[in-house]
Amino acid sequence: MKFSLAFAALAGLVSARPSFLDLARRDGAIKYTDPETGFAFSEFKAAYTLTSNIVYRFALPSDPPSGPYDAVIQVVAPVQVGWTGLAWGGTMLKNPLTVAYPNGNSGPTVSSRWATAHSTPMTYTGATYTILSNGNRANGTHWQYTALCRGCTQWNTGSSTVRLNPTGSSRLAFAYSPGRPSSPSSNTSSIPVHEVANAWSHDFSLGLNPNFQELLVKNGVS
Ligand code: HEM
Ligand SMILES: *[C@@H]1O[C@H](CO)[C@@H](O)[C@H](O)[C@H]1NC(C)=O
Ligand SMILES: *[C@@H]1O[C@H](CO)[C@@H](O)[C@H](O)[C@H]1NC(C)=O
Repeated sequence: MKFSLAFAALAGLVSARPSFLDLARRDGAIKYTDPETGFAFSEFKAAYTLTSNIVYRFALPSDPPSGPYDAVIQVVAPVQVGWTGLAWGGTMLKNPLTVAYPNGNSGPTVSSRWATAHSTPMTYTGATYTILSNGNRANGTHWQYTALCRGCTQWNTGSSTVRLNPTGSSRLAFAYSPGRPSSPSSNTSSIPVHEVANAWSHDFSLGLNPNFQELLVKNGVS
């Protein structure tokens, strides 16, 4: 992909990053049922080096309203990951960006962002996050968060409204940096630019939950 190669060259990481083809061949979404929260997730392992992955998981209601609907996102990242972002529309620009970084033992900070240029994304009030009472930690090897997002499944690009199809596949993208945010406890911290960004086609239908609301309540969200 043009953007991947261009960006890898920019970051000076051509030898360290996997090619788009490798990523596409090796991985595909699978269904994962999380024993901690009880949600069924569609899971994708995004390679950010030849040997390391960040795990992205998505749980959706099986019978969502026709407009915007809630989604649960769970991300598991190795401690080497300084911040990671998920782009719900599969590009850096004009779609909700879920950025997160570890914050010591307090559990990760999640930050809502939006970019209109290939520079530090601004904050985005169109999406809000509620951290679930389960599924958040940082230990010696990994950090992980689990959050309800309101505003991640539908947005306006300025020229059109995009709504994710909960029973189909669509393009997602992620970004990774080993660099640490300047204020890890703040959801408006500045972040260093990513070293790797890549996209994949994600099958959301593997993470549908008939008991979505009930599971939210079980995980501390009323
Ligand atoms: C720290 C601030 C950031 C800066 C300075 C930055 C800068 C850039 C630059 C220069 C490119 C290359 C554009 C090209 O090759 O033409 C790029 C691409 C990309 N970035 Fe960022 N970025 C930042 C944050 C983010 C975040 C938070 C995400 C969230 C997922 C993200 C996702 C992407 C993706 C998916 C691409 C591939 C091209 C595209 O989809 O537009 N970036 N970024
Ligand atoms: C940061 O958190 C506050 C309090 O939960 C919230 O109102 C705000 O929208 C968040 N901002 C970002 C950029 O995530
Ligand atoms: C550390 O956290 C990760 C991610 O949640 C988990 O898979 C792993 O089992 C944890 N390790 C220990 C020793 O608890």
